[in-house]
Amino acid sequence: MDFNFIPGDIPLPLPTGGFEFLHYVFHGLLVVSWVVHILFINVLLGASLASVYFNKRGARENNPVLDRVAYLLTTPVTISENMGALWGVAPLLLISVLYTPLFYSAALMNSPQWLHIIYGNIVAFLCSYLYKYTWHTLHERKSLHVTIGTISVLLFYTLPPVFMATVQLYITPSTWTQEHTFWNALFRSDTLFRLAHFYLASFAVSGVFMLIYGYFKRKAADETDRAAGAILIRTGKSWFVVPTVLNLFIGPLALFHFPAYGLEAFFNSGYHWGIVLTVILSIYAMTQLAKEFMKDDISAAKVWTVTAIMAIAIISMATIRHGMRISLVTPVMAASVSKSEAFQNEAKAAYDAAKLIPVATTDGPRGKQLAEQHGCLGCHAEREKLVGPSYADVAQRGYDANKILALVRQPIPSNWPTFAETPMPPMPDVPEADVREIAVWINTLK
Ligand code: HEC
Repeated sequence: MDFNFIPGDIPLPLPTGGFEFLHYVFHGLLVVSWVVHILFINVLLGASLASVYFNKRGARENNPVLDRVAYLLTTPVTISENMGALWGVAPLLLISVLYTPLFYSAALMNSPQWLHIIYGNIVAFLCSYLYKYTWHTLHERKSLHVTIGTISVLLFYTLPPVFMATVQLYITPSTWTQEHTFWNALFRSDTLFRLAHFYLASFAVSGVFMLIYGYFKRKAADETDRAAGAILIRTGKSWFVVPTVLNLFIGPLALFHFPAYGLEAFFNSGYHWGIVLTVILSIYAMTQLAKEFMKDDISAAKVWTVTAIMAIAIISMATIRHGMRISLVTPVMAASVSKSEAFQNEAKAAYDAAKLIPVATTDGPRGKQLAEQHGCLGCHAEREKLVGPSYADVAQRGYDANKILALVRQPIPSNWPTFAETPMPPMPDVPEADVREIAVWINTLK
């Protein structure tokens, strides 16, 4: 079996070897690995910002409890950046397998800014390590310390826009005709609303995280840790509630900026019920906190109820998100597959047709066929003069095969003054064995 007719770069469907359920496995892995990744990223964004904020406030108010809150927050930052980056590889790989042509096209259109994911991350990581591990060394030089922390936070916050612009671009190929640069893709209202929705969700998730973290710190042996725990709980409540309320408004704006055909498929598949569920769960979780909103403490029952409810809400949101992607991308991938098939069929038909054309049209001795194949018969005929002398006349000169070979490699036009107008070109590419066979045939024409 030869595959010569298959061009190198066409979007083939995912090869499942006949096991169709593998599609579900891949999609399931994509949703799960993405949720784990994004939860770490949410906490990274929220906790890194909160740490720098409390660090600065602690220094200004000369308050060791605030300083402790800031320091405690560097631990989840370190864990989240490492785990977030690690878990981020899985969804990137899965997307590049499931949506190869769309994803790579978008990444290309967004280059070179797409590479900011690499160098931006490296510098942000290094600054955040420096921030954490110089905590005590730079205790007397707080403004320098806060500056280092601020640089890492700013860098971390530049990464989601790059991702969002690329994600938004690859799932909406209908916009590719107008959007060719990274900046166009970023400053589209659909991208900006999703970005706002994402940052707010990051603060909300960080809020829930601070509730859990503060709950445990309230039980610590150290008195400053316990006081820091109270601040974490209070901060966690407002960080959870305020962004979640805002997202009730930003969410629909993000949703209704998707292309109409995608929205239609989304609603037809019933994914919007996931939104309804998420909204109900979020409101319920907020009412759980409402009564004791101003308190420094939180009961175990409240922490775990809110956490469990929000875990379900997040899984539901991740499923909705994937539903939107499927709604937008499926018809495009289907068109791509059928175009590929049409292209393959066309290429195969052309290849088969080409195989039917025989290479040599002349019959007769092999020397004659080779002369035909190497183009000698364009200038030479057996018995008449053409551009060159007839081979019968050449045969009269009584050359042996070696001589003919030498003359083909290096013709001597002065041997045939009557043909001086268009002399024979040197023909070094004709294989020696072929020339010898042609020579034998020429000499049979005497
Ligand atoms: C572009 C036209 C052209 C092609 C193609 C061509 N020839 Fe010639 N050939 C000539 C001409 C013109 C001469 C007369 C002498 C000269 O110009 O060198 C000639 C002369 C010869 C001679 C006699 C040389 C001598 O000096 O007595 C031989 C043998 C010959 N060709 C063999 C071939 C063979 C074999 C091929 C194919 C591999 C070939 N030619 C292809 C134009 C051509």
